[in-house]
Amino acid sequence: MIKATNIHKYYSDLHVLKGVDLNIQKGEIVSIVGASGAGKTTLLHILGTLDRASSKEQSSLHINNVDIISLSDKTLAKFRNEHIGFIFQFHQLLPEFTALENVCLPAFIKNTSKPDAEKRAKELLDFLGLSHRYHHKPGELSGGEQQRVAVARALINNPELIFADEPSGNLDSESAENLHNLFFKLRDEFGQTFVIVTHNEELANMADRKLVMVDGKIV
Ligand SMILES: Nc1ncnc2c1ncn2[C@@H]1O[C@H](COP(=O)(O)OP(=O)(O)OP(=O)(O)O)[C@@H](O)[C@H]1O
Ligand SMILES: [Mg+2]
Repeated sequence: MIKATNIHKYYSDLHVLKGVDLNIQKGEIVSIVGASGAGKTTLLHILGTLDRASSKEQSSLHINNVDIISLSDKTLAKFRNEHIGFIFQFHQLLPEFTALENVCLPAFIKNTSKPDAEKRAKELLDFLGLSHRYHHKPGELSGGEQQRVAVARALINNPELIFADEPSGNLDSESAENLHNLFFKLRDEFGQTFVIVTHNEELANMADRKLVMVDGKIV
């Protein structure tokens, strides 16, 4: 599903990723742990095609056998919308839209009809315990509620591959457990692949495989 070799990233002089190699199979749930600043979010953004690896080194990134590095920005955006879902560390909902509208957006971009998108969005919001919050805007929601809206948004297009950065960081322990169980349920039902950055020991250990990042490398 994902095959990455020798991924590097610099922020001016700062060498943040120092040659990451990674192989993730379809249907796998992989957790990535490591100290703050180790490069986890940076790596997730590159694997998720939101950012590009340094071109100074010979690197490669294949997702679903597609050579990501060779794609134009436009083709890449389409690929991302159809195959990849994100749950961000900071949820990045659009403040002027309601919860329901935020969840529907990726479906609208994919040209799903409004009734179909809203039906699926409501199913997801219901499942995540937000039936009473469809029409609230992010500013009217708690942090944990916003996080769950972001989860629903990530899942609406049924992406094969989901990247999550601290998905349960803002949740109470019961909501966190529900969310973790949802990931495993989706994997078992639909064979979705998850790459999850987390400081939550329990979640990290539930994964099929736990990768540890230290100073820009997977050890
Ligand atoms: N846009 C940027 N410009 C400059 N430096 C950056 C930028 N983004 C990240 N960095 C630096 O890169 C390093 C890795 O950051 P990253 O966000 O990947 O860490 P992380 O492992 O996700 O940490 P955390 O657990 O705190 O989220 C940090 O030292 C950070 O300061
Ligand atoms: Mg981070």
